[in-house]
Amino acid sequence: MAKKTSRQYVCRACGAVHAKWAGQCDACQEWNTLEEMAVEPLAASSASSRAGKGRRVQLHGLGGKVELPPRTGTGIAELDRVLGGGLVPASVVLVGGDPGIGKSTLLLQAASRLAGKGERVLYISGEEAVDQIRLRAIRLGVVESSLDLAASINVADIVATLEAEPDVKVVVIDSIQTMWLETVDSAPGTVSQVRACAFELIRAAKRRGFSLILVGHVTKEGALAGPRVLEHMVDAVMYFEGDRGHQFRILRAAKNRYGATDEIGVFAMTDRGLEEVSNPSALFLAERRGNIAGSAVFAGLEGSRPVLLEVQALLSPKGGDGAPRRAVVGWDSGRLAMLLAVLETRCGLKLSGMDVYLNVAGGLRVVEPAADLAVAAALVSAASGVPTSPGAVYFGEVGLSGEVRQVPQADARLKEAAKLGFTQAVLPRRIARGSARSRPPEGMSLLELGHISDLVGPDVEAE
Ligand code: TYD
Ligand code: MG
Repeated sequence: MAKKTSRQYVCRACGAVHAKWAGQCDACQEWNTLEEMAVEPLAASSASSRAGKGRRVQLHGLGGKVELPPRTGTGIAELDRVLGGGLVPASVVLVGGDPGIGKSTLLLQAASRLAGKGERVLYISGEEAVDQIRLRAIRLGVVESSLDLAASINVADIVATLEAEPDVKVVVIDSIQTMWLETVDSAPGTVSQVRACAFELIRAAKRRGFSLILVGHVTKEGALAGPRVLEHMVDAVMYFEGDRGHQFRILRAAKNRYGATDEIGVFAMTDRGLEEVSNPSALFLAERRGNIAGSAVFAGLEGSRPVLLEVQALLSPKGGDGAPRRAVVGWDSGRLAMLLAVLETRCGLKLSGMDVYLNVAGGLRVVEPAADLAVAAALVSAASGVPTSPGAVYFGEVGLSGEVRQVPQADARLKEAAKLGFTQAVLPRRIARGSARSRPPEGMSLLELGHISDLVGPDVEAE
């Protein structure tokens, strides 16, 4: 039987596989991102022809003893938190993010901390020469470390080096898009190369038991295959986010076979590299100016950690004949549209003639529906010109009929607010039955709302 090499088309941006080429990817709607890839007939055919020779696999009971994987702490607590407690041997972590966001900086800092603890660590860069990495290390103040550096893009050479260095515990590859395998007939950064190189490196990690950290650039232009094409191959995926104009950087786990996926690590980019931010609320609120209409503090939750953020809203009369502007930074624009509609319909606030600008200060992106109440408070305050109480925090989800709904972990949010000196919390009304809320922290008064119209005073009306 003749072996047929079939072809498939993989999207560089999202990794979706298509049977036919098309100008636009169905899955992510990006244009010109489909790339042809030969399907390896080898694996499938050899497996089926040797099917008769398979060995019986060992079966285990579900109730057996669990051995937690040993972990190596990186010495950077915010990174360890997102990893789920540290690096697991033979695991593969993909760190994605926009170019220039600080991936190399973070990993060089982590690698040198690990090396400083006596682990054998290899930092392999395909982007920078060894001298450039050394210069960066001088700037970061980590020169004394016993970290091993290499500049290479050749995966075969890298794997050969790793074979010859059996005591290596951690390997950083910066970045996977620069890596190259001679046997694959396409340029670095293409889906075929990125996948094949990652596959080789992952195999080496599993075989030799070192932890592998792959850096992957997220590219909007679609010139390189993005980290999405590797997400299913690795054990953990974390994205390094932030606004380049801001100091803050957030490391967020998108997938983690060895830990929770909703944890975040918060860093600040300084002239001496990334500094850990162990108390993000204080930092996010540091520049808040009291007594200004259109601002409200949201008591949010990022993973297991409560974080206080300032939500800012600005309304201005609509310019021109077109539809009014709705500009959102750090929140979902669909959710803003919903909330504006609820405020108009249920509370009589006239907002359709206004341009609305909404901003979550500090560059963090909020995804929790619990932010609804804080956003509503900021909008109502902007519309009325009356500042929200400087000592108040807000949290609660808002439904379409204007009802304020429960959100998880009210106690943790209240505790964080009290810790930062807030004295009042505006939150959903307790449901009579089955409510487990304990007493509020000392000095904190609660204002429980059942309906969003309770936020709106009688004289609030936007002109
Ligand atoms: P980098 O780690 O090279 O980003 P990536 O690897 O994600 O592309 O970070 C680059 C940016 O970080 C660059 O714009 C300069 C800035 N930076 C600092 O502000 N302070 C520092 O100590 C370092 C090393 C970089
Ligand atoms: Mg880099």
